[in-house]
Amino acid sequence: MRNLVKGKRIVVTGSASGIGWETSRILAEQGAEVLGVDVNKNFDNVEEFYRADLSDPRAIDALIDVMPEGIDGLVNNAGLPPTKDANLLLRVNLVGLKRLTYGMIGKLSDGASIVNVASLAGIGWPQAVNAIKASEHLDFNNLDQFIEQWRVSSEGGRSYFFSKEALIVWTMQNRWTWRERGIRMNAVSPGPVDTPILKDFLETLGQRAEEDRKAMDRPGTAEDIAPIIMFLLSDMTTWIRGANIPSDGGMSSNILCNMQGL
Ligand code: NAI
Repeated sequence: MRNLVKGKRIVVTGSASGIGWETSRILAEQGAEVLGVDVNKNFDNVEEFYRADLSDPRAIDALIDVMPEGIDGLVNNAGLPPTKDANLLLRVNLVGLKRLTYGMIGKLSDGASIVNVASLAGIGWPQAVNAIKASEHLDFNNLDQFIEQWRVSSEGGRSYFFSKEALIVWTMQNRWTWRERGIRMNAVSPGPVDTPILKDFLETLGQRAEEDRKAMDRPGTAEDIAPIIMFLLSDMTTWIRGANIPSDGGMSSNILCNMQGL
């Protein structure tokens, strides 16, 4: 059996709560050295904690500067729910996430694994390809213009959906970007998970959330998601690249089958 994560140095963003908290906890339990990052202080579960606001480019750059080298895994998990202001949401969920990742490449070891926490909310990405292409050069200073032009405001949770659609596509696009160094990037897409932000989703999605709830036997838990992130960080998955792994109690299959009349 190849090594799971023992002895690996792994950065987890959004480590103070929910999925990030549980991921950090089980990684540490399995012998990884976990470097947690969050805007909120809560660090019982990590070896080292870095307080940083990942909506702020200067804070991101400062974080990259102080990070050690030899990092074997980066979990881009920090994220804001759909009820938040679209500009702030896109800073954290997309633009800041990309900036942190690009900035961290030099600190990653050869063979490192990058795991993006996307969402079932990103399943509609094929219908958003034009906006996603237009977002390739999105930066902290042109967000408002982009939000208006591509109608990705917080209305109906669109900014959140878009952030996750674009993240799934960015993951696929980076399937081979760092292949010479053996660095891979994948995504995990949870369905509704019982964490502090679940209520925000239910609030935003209204009737649709109600239908989802009826279709599902139960909401997910952070314990359902964290092991999948750990698996993707492990040496067992070196040939999984640019993939998006749903972990949603069957919801994505349900949506896709219904869409195709299957
Ligand atoms: P959570 O709210 O429990 O955890 C998110 C963490 O990100 C918090 O600790 C928060 O402080 C941190 N964070 C937020 N803004 C930040 C910033 N500017 N700088 C640094 N840290 C920041 O939520 P949860 O559910 O654990 O979410 C984790 C990820 O999972 C998110 O990307 C979310 O979109 C995704 N997700 C969650 C689902 C759910 O139903 N809970 C479903 C699908 C995806």
